[in-house]
Amino acid sequence: MGHTSPSAELINQATELRDLLNQHNQRYYVHDDPVISDSEYDQLLRRLQDLEEQYPQLLSPDSPTQRVGAAPLPAFKQVRHELPMLSLNNAFDDTELEEFDRRMRERLKLGAEEKHQSTLEYACEPKLDGLAVSLLYRDGVFERGATRGDGETGEDITLNLRTIASVPLCLSGDNIPPLLEVRGEVYMPLAGFKAFNARAEAADEKVFINPRNAAAGSLRQLDSKITAARPLELCVYSVGISEGWTLPATHVEILNQLNQWGFLISPLLDTAANIDACVAYYQKAKELRATLNYDIDGIVFKVNRLDHQRQLGFVARAPRWAIARKFPAEEATTQLLDVEFQVGRTGAITPVARLDPVFVGGVTVSNATLHNRDEIARLGVKIGDTVVVRRAGDVIPQVARVLLEDRPSTARAIVFPEHCPACESALSRIEGEAAVRCTAGLICPAQRKQAIKHFASRDALDIEGLGDKLVDQLVDAGCIHSLPDIYHLKVAELAALERLAEKSASNLVAAIEASKQTTLPRFLYALGIREVGKATARSLAQHFGSLENLQEADEDSLKSVADVGPIVAGFVRQFFTNTDTLKVIGDLRDAGVQWPDIEVLEQAALPLSGETWVLTGSLNTMMRSDAKARLEALGAKVAGSVSANTTRVVAGDKAGSKLAKAEALNVPTINETEFVEYLTSIE
Ligand code: IVH
Repeated sequence: MGHTSPSAELINQATELRDLLNQHNQRYYVHDDPVISDSEYDQLLRRLQDLEEQYPQLLSPDSPTQRVGAAPLPAFKQVRHELPMLSLNNAFDDTELEEFDRRMRERLKLGAEEKHQSTLEYACEPKLDGLAVSLLYRDGVFERGATRGDGETGEDITLNLRTIASVPLCLSGDNIPPLLEVRGEVYMPLAGFKAFNARAEAADEKVFINPRNAAAGSLRQLDSKITAARPLELCVYSVGISEGWTLPATHVEILNQLNQWGFLISPLLDTAANIDACVAYYQKAKELRATLNYDIDGIVFKVNRLDHQRQLGFVARAPRWAIARKFPAEEATTQLLDVEFQVGRTGAITPVARLDPVFVGGVTVSNATLHNRDEIARLGVKIGDTVVVRRAGDVIPQVARVLLEDRPSTARAIVFPEHCPACESALSRIEGEAAVRCTAGLICPAQRKQAIKHFASRDALDIEGLGDKLVDQLVDAGCIHSLPDIYHLKVAELAALERLAEKSASNLVAAIEASKQTTLPRFLYALGIREVGKATARSLAQHFGSLENLQEADEDSLKSVADVGPIVAGFVRQFFTNTDTLKVIGDLRDAGVQWPDIEVLEQAALPLSGETWVLTGSLNTMMRSDAKARLEALGAKVAGSVSANTTRVVAGDKAGSKLAKAEALNVPTINETEFVEYLTSIE
């Protein structure tokens, strides 16, 4: 594979597929106007993937197949912004906005005294609540992306940005400038944010406080595969440096041109003929806000004409010609009625505020998380207090602060439980961790319920019909004490439960029976080992091949698995040395749960196990086949093409496209001398 050259016809096909896919991508993500179905799109993509796999020469970093993420980086590189990335001054009411307009017209000498004697046009657009980024395109190809950082220097997040569907990998249209830097905001749409948090919560993993944090956390990942799995979008709002582009006369024209080249711009972009129209735009946007699928925290007004902008210039770190009219934070006051403590799947105890229901940010809020003991201390909150609840687009409402002056004499301190509220077992707090946890594991009914729900969930053993309510019912009724009990449920027993008809009961028993045939990754994930999500379960399964191998693995060999660091390795060891969990596993197997072992290609104990190397160019001191054999003897796989999963590339003389690709994907490369030294040092 990959040794022969593709025919001219195949090269053309690949180019055509790439162009087609880029066009459809853009129609879908930027213009919201798809013309083919998802499955047709998938077919085109698969065809291109096949071609690229067969002829790696055809693969380029701007291929639409490359949005999946690349190999993890050791750290972000720094990027200096040639033009600093600025911030915006704020206006908090209409008077401040009018003041701004007066200053503009005064400076531009457009009739300062009489308000509308001479008016000034503004571009109006929402202030997106995400993370500012800069994207550099050379000859229309996405070359480098960076965060804003401190405005002067940011971090190189090219690989992460490449995974975002609305980031064009190559521009389309006419007169594309040889050099173009665009700036915009990366954000997580609310629907994606909610879905992400719901999944995280179900898996008892960390949830994000708000979409802004979610976007920031997702973009600042050294492993772009994580970013690829997050629903992010880019909307652009300005141009940075450019060469070979005579800028149009206005800001709105700039954005329209960027849109033509393939960037998403705000659908709410508009112009206002004067400041009264700006105020009206702001009022309308404020009402629209609740219906949008993304968070905005205000409106940005920019003097539309570029010659005016140039004349106005900058002060300190913000342009004089723009202002952000901020929305008031959505807050409401209510009373804290009580605090309850919930127990999560891994035993984490979360204090939840029970509030007198209050309408804030478009919904009625009656619960708010208080996160943990530290947060309660920080707020200094007591039961009975009047509290300010904030929902700034946050799906999880927050208690922002306490109105101490309204504290009633009857207010009582929140007492953090000494024992688990569900099972009375001891609680423990590990140093450096905010969470307090119940130590009882599956003995604790609350953890048991969560563990069973997780075990039965779609990505785990996928037992259809065994939903959350039923699990609560079964545990409360004493039908299930531990996971293996699931496999001893009888139709009659189930049908005797409230709300479960005979038919559904037998369907459920059939689904339980079917779940016995599973896979090792699913089973590992289903066990609910702390910090072992789907991806880690898959890596562990592939690395060790069988449950027995994994159970016997020590921390060092665990740490050699992709995604597994000392913390996760520790949790895995802990899990498999606990006699209770070993009994659960044994009982599940006795009940008939089974999976095929996975063939492990590498010898786990070899120094280069798990690594994939690529040899390219010609070697002077050894035959290519010898180099390959020596690498394989050390446990490495030797592949014919460079991908994001490549560990290292050995570049001999006249190394060509593979070397270029390695560099594009940030895969480390070494020359022949270094390679020989390295081999002799470890053989
Ligand atoms: S213009 C030179 N437009 O707000 C002008 N910024 O407080 C600089 N932002 O860092 C930015 N939406 O992250 C502009 N439509 C918009 C924006 C926007 C969000 C963010 C941006 C910037 C921050 C400034």
